[in-house]
Amino acid sequence: MNVLILGSGGREHAIAWKINQSKQNPKIFIAPGNAGTKKLGINLQVNLSDFDALANLVEIHQINLLVVGPEAPLVEGIVNYFRALSKFDKLKIIGPDAAGAQLEGSKDFAKEFMAEFNVPTARYKTFDSKTIEQAYAFLETLNPPYVLKADGLAGGKGVLILNNLEQAKVELANMLLDEKFGKASSQVVIEEYLDGIEMSVFVLTDGKDYLILPEAKDYKRIGEGDTGLNTGGMGAISPVPFVNSNLMQKIEDSIVKPSVAGLNKRGFNYKGFLFIGLMIVENNPFVIEYNVRMGDPETEVVMPRIKSDLLSHLLACSNGKLAEEKLEIDDRFATTVMLVAGGYPEKYEKGKPMLGFEKVSDSMLFHAGTTEKDGEIITNGGRVLAITSYGNNMKEALSKSFANASTIDYHGKYYRKDIGFDL
Ligand code: AMP
Ligand code: GLY
Repeated sequence: MNVLILGSGGREHAIAWKINQSKQNPKIFIAPGNAGTKKLGINLQVNLSDFDALANLVEIHQINLLVVGPEAPLVEGIVNYFRALSKFDKLKIIGPDAAGAQLEGSKDFAKEFMAEFNVPTARYKTFDSKTIEQAYAFLETLNPPYVLKADGLAGGKGVLILNNLEQAKVELANMLLDEKFGKASSQVVIEEYLDGIEMSVFVLTDGKDYLILPEAKDYKRIGEGDTGLNTGGMGAISPVPFVNSNLMQKIEDSIVKPSVAGLNKRGFNYKGFLFIGLMIVENNPFVIEYNVRMGDPETEVVMPRIKSDLLSHLLACSNGKLAEEKLEIDDRFATTVMLVAGGYPEKYEKGKPMLGFEKVSDSMLFHAGTTEKDGEIITNGGRVLAITSYGNNMKEALSKSFANASTIDYHGKYYRKDIGFDL
C-alpha cells in the first residue's frame, strides 16, 4: 500500500505519523514534506499546482492512495484532473472535487449552501463593486462589530472585524474597489457578528456517511490573550472542555447531518475531510466557515486522539464504505503549542539552525516549517514546529508542551504561553 500525502506542514506530518501506525504497513511519500516527514517516508519535491508532475509521481511510485492536505490543489481541481484520466481509475483520493471545494473556495457559495440546507449560520448578504452602495446600506442595518469576508481564498487573512461603521465602510471599499485581497475580495460577504466561543468539528465523509473525529479548539491570534494579528494557528486543544454530549448531539443533528446530506444532494464527488468552524452562542452551534481539509494545528491534536486505524478509514471513505468503519478515540487530552519564527505572521527570517531535539521528552514533535541542510535541521517557514502532548487533563498536557517548547531553541523563537487560557 503506497500512500502519497500532499503538503508540507504540521498537518501533513501528523497525518503521515498516524497513517504510519497502520497495520497495513504502508509505504509513505510526502510532497513536498519537511524535515519531520522525512523520518516517516520519502519526501518528493514538486509544485502542488503542477498536476502533470504529480500524476508522474503517482505513476512512478505506484501510489494507491493520494491524501490532499491543503485546500489550494482541491479548489484548483486536482480530484477532477485525476478522475478524468482512466489510467488512474484505481487511485483512491482523499479530498473533494472542485465543485465541493467551493465550500472553502467561496464564502458566498458556502453561505448559499448553508441557507439551502438549513444549516444555522449568521445572517448575511454578498456584494461586489457594482453594489457597494447597497453594501453600505446593509452595514447600516447591522449592529457593530461588523464582519467583512473576502469571498475567495485569502490565506486565512480575508476576514475583517471592525468596531465602527465608518471604518467598516472604508475597509469594504478597500476590498471591493482596491483589491485589498486581490481577486479574492472582488466579492465580499457581510455578515452578522456572532458573540460566542469558537470550536471546530472535523468530519470524514464519503458523501453519504460520516465519522465525526475528535473536536478541537485552536488559537489563531499571534498575541497572548487572543490579541494581535491572525496567524495560521498558534496552538490547539482536544477535547474541548465545554463540549458535552448534549452540545455534540446538537452539532451532529443541526449541522453535520444536513451538511453531509447537502454534499450528496448537490452531487459533489466528496470523499474527504470537512472541517466545520463553529461559534457556540448560548449553547447553540452556528457555522462560521467550512474548510474542505483538516485544520492546522488542529490535526496535530486530532490525529493523536484517534486510536483506530486511520488508513483503514481513509480507504473505506474513498470506496464509499465509511458506514462499515468504527472510530475509536483516546480519552486523554492532547494539546499542541506552535513554535513560530520571530516576526511571524509579518516578515520573518528562515534558515535558523534548530537545537535541543534530543532533550525533548514526553511530547510528539510535528514539523511545520523545517528543512534539512548539511544534516542539520533549520527553520523554513513562519510556523516552525508543533509540540503535542497527552495528559489526563488539559493542564497536564499543556505543561509538557510548554516544557518542551522552552527546550527547543533557534534564533527568534516565539510561542504563546497561554494556550488554553480561556477554557
Ligand atoms: P473565518 O476565516 O471565516 O474562519 O473567519 C476568521 C475568524 O473571524 C473566525 O475564526 C472568527 O474568530 C471570526 N469570525 C468570522 N465570522 C464571524 C462572525 N459572524 N461573528 C463573529 N466572529 C466571526
Ligand atoms: N487552524 C485553522 C485552519 O487550519 O484553517
